[in-house]
Amino acid sequence: MAEVHETNIRVQQVPRSRLPEVDLKNISFGTIFTDHMFQADSVEGSWTDLQLLPYGPVQFNPALMALHYGQAIFEGMKAFRTVDNEVVLFRPRANFERFNISAERMCMPVTTEEVFMEGLFRLIDMDRDWVPGFDNSSLYVRPFMYATDQFLGVRPSHTYRFAIICSPAGAYYSKPLRVKIEKHYTRSAKGGIGYAKAAANYGLSLLPTKLAQEAGFDQIIWTDAVNHEYVEEAGTANFMFVIDGTLVTPPVKDTILKGITRDSIVTLVRSWGMEVQEREVAVSELVEAMEKGRLQEAFAVGTAATVTHISEIGHEDRVYRLPAVEKRELAPRILETLNDIRYGRAEDPFGWMVKV
Ligand code: PLP
Ligand code: COI
Repeated sequence: MAEVHETNIRVQQVPRSRLPEVDLKNISFGTIFTDHMFQADSVEGSWTDLQLLPYGPVQFNPALMALHYGQAIFEGMKAFRTVDNEVVLFRPRANFERFNISAERMCMPVTTEEVFMEGLFRLIDMDRDWVPGFDNSSLYVRPFMYATDQFLGVRPSHTYRFAIICSPAGAYYSKPLRVKIEKHYTRSAKGGIGYAKAAANYGLSLLPTKLAQEAGFDQIIWTDAVNHEYVEEAGTANFMFVIDGTLVTPPVKDTILKGITRDSIVTLVRSWGMEVQEREVAVSELVEAMEKGRLQEAFAVGTAATVTHISEIGHEDRVYRLPAVEKRELAPRILETLNDIRYGRAEDPFGWMVKV
């Protein structure tokens, strides 16, 4: 069921769509944007000036607080075109709820149903022709909010801009990943902002990720801030492991993002009658499992990442090669089932898909 009702959104449409100039089959992630965007402003806690307008540059003053003190958060979700040519969103309410959790942690105003959900549905409806209609493709939707006061003192801004932009997308990762267990840098500490989808979490990951890439890896497995003894998550996804045939994933807590894909997969796999362990995964346990050939699968799960195999895991000065991806069973079954639900090829037993 669509969740839209009519309200006060000003609409300005582009005179001519850019869509005919775009080859939806050949786009790299995050490079092409649809014709329109949604925006709303918060002034002293009230939302005003809701509008759908052409996608384009925004003007701001150099003293914009978001640029100086980092009050900036975002979400990521996807819209799919089903085999019946319907446009559906995957669990949008979960993103709405997580966005507001991030907002509270960053001392920003929460969004209302009207601003977030209605802005979202109206925007996707307006740009629905941009939702690609082939396998593994989708419309990536990026709601975000940033502080807009012009001020250099350190305090929460009084004004904010909320916006949603959309970008047609194929795969974020095009091949299995080589990941490095990070033992020096820290993504998030207890009491920090790890569970928020705050821009700062991504800014701090760039240098350690670049260093890992220079050493031949694609991504990092972040570990706990105390002793780097326990696995947490990737910079862009949560992690899952198959150890001795059981799906194991670190529990969600205040240092890691509570992934919606992770939650969906835990629900799905349990519905198959299989055990899923949400528990601490020690680096030493993982290393031992790799040495003894008991780690059958490892994969990263997220909106952009979908389900991406891990091919190699680096720990200190060793690199462990995991079983060939062709031999894996669980991750491919999960991805196929999720895709069947998303593209409308199978029943949606959990009520995850919401029609636009
Ligand atoms: N962890 C981080 C740091 C992420 O950026 C993402 C991506 O959104 C995830 C986990 C996975 O979350 P979700 O499945 O909700 O996209
Ligand atoms: C997502 O999967 O939505 C993410 O946020 C990951 C990355 C593109 C930042």
